[in-house]
Amino acid sequence: MKVLVCGGAGYIGSHMVRRLLGYGHDVVVFDNLSTGHKKAVSNVPLVVGDLLDAEALRRLFAGRRFDAVMHFCALSLVGESVRDPYQYYVNNVAGTLNLLRSMFTAEVSRLVFSSTAAVFGNPRARFIDELHPTCPINPYGASKLMVERVLADAARAYGLRTVALRYFNAAGADPAGDIGESHEPETHLIPNVLRSALGLGKGLKVFGNDYATADGTCVRDYVHVNDLADAHLAALDFMEGREGAHAFNLGNGQGFTVLQVIEAARRVTGKPIEFEYATRREGDPAVLVASGQKARDQLAWTPKYDSIESIIDTAWRWHRAVRY
Ligand SMILES: NC(=O)c1ccc[n+]([C@@H]2O[C@H](COP(=O)([O-])OP(=O)(O)OC[C@H]3O[C@@H](n4cnc5c(N)ncnc54)[C@H](O)[C@@H]3O)[C@@H](O)[C@H]2O)c1
Repeated sequence: MKVLVCGGAGYIGSHMVRRLLGYGHDVVVFDNLSTGHKKAVSNVPLVVGDLLDAEALRRLFAGRRFDAVMHFCALSLVGESVRDPYQYYVNNVAGTLNLLRSMFTAEVSRLVFSSTAAVFGNPRARFIDELHPTCPINPYGASKLMVERVLADAARAYGLRTVALRYFNAAGADPAGDIGESHEPETHLIPNVLRSALGLGKGLKVFGNDYATADGTCVRDYVHVNDLADAHLAALDFMEGREGAHAFNLGNGQGFTVLQVIEAARRVTGKPIEFEYATRREGDPAVLVASGQKARDQLAWTPKYDSIESIIDTAWRWHRAVRY
């Protein structure tokens, strides 16, 4: 297949590109490099452009025929989205609408969309399945839910086939160690723990130790970035036989507290990894764990990285040799 990967210079998108190439697909990356990295893209054409630039999209689709689009572009910092919601709705919602209209004009009818656990808001169940109410508590989550709604309408009106994949916490890196997570600022736990192990960063902070969890720290569900890429490949197959807009929650179905992650990182790295407690961050639920049942049943997807150590080990290879 010929696949357009929007946001392919970013963390998850760059792993997706490698996976697609490994399966013999033809790939073009479109990215404005706002949070992505040129060095993360190799062996495929990189078209530098912005989803908000209709003319750049017209040029992208002109003279190229795509069988499917994977859409990873977004701004995705929760706190920033609260402070500057216009920026989030413009980039994440209006940008996606531009992409969808370009796809419509070019008669491309398959899309895999990067959604998020943030569409659910505060969990009302131990394991979050696809029937859990969606009630985002910040503009970032709301922007993703709006897009999901647009996709449902587009399926009915235009016959667009879509799969929204709601990732929980993406983590790890390709075991080759040459691509990985590189965000500035970095808000994710595992990169910050590993930066701290390397003596980089400002000192590791654990936000809140009075949650109703085993050790008082937040529980999250970490899923390896290459497992996420595999789910996208499964979604392409799934859309062959299915019309409509579909959504799947992607996680490992296991939760780890922040302290358990730090402990596992100490074992993997052999470093002491110091931290200090800070007050809770607003909008951080105590526990966020996916039910992966629907993805297992309908996408035949099971994460291969099922231990937190194996995920951290791949991230550690990347962080010791960061290239961008
Ligand atoms: N990382 C996670 O744990 C996680 C969890 C849930 C959902 N997601 C979603 O997955 C997707 C990928 O996340 P990531 O961590 O790889 O993020 P990232 O910031 O590393 O990648 C996003 C890419 O999109 C590009 N981009 C953003 N806006 C653009 C625009 N208007 N035009 C063109 N390019 C644009 C950026 O330059 C970047 O390369 C995002 O949509 C994010 O919301 C991520």
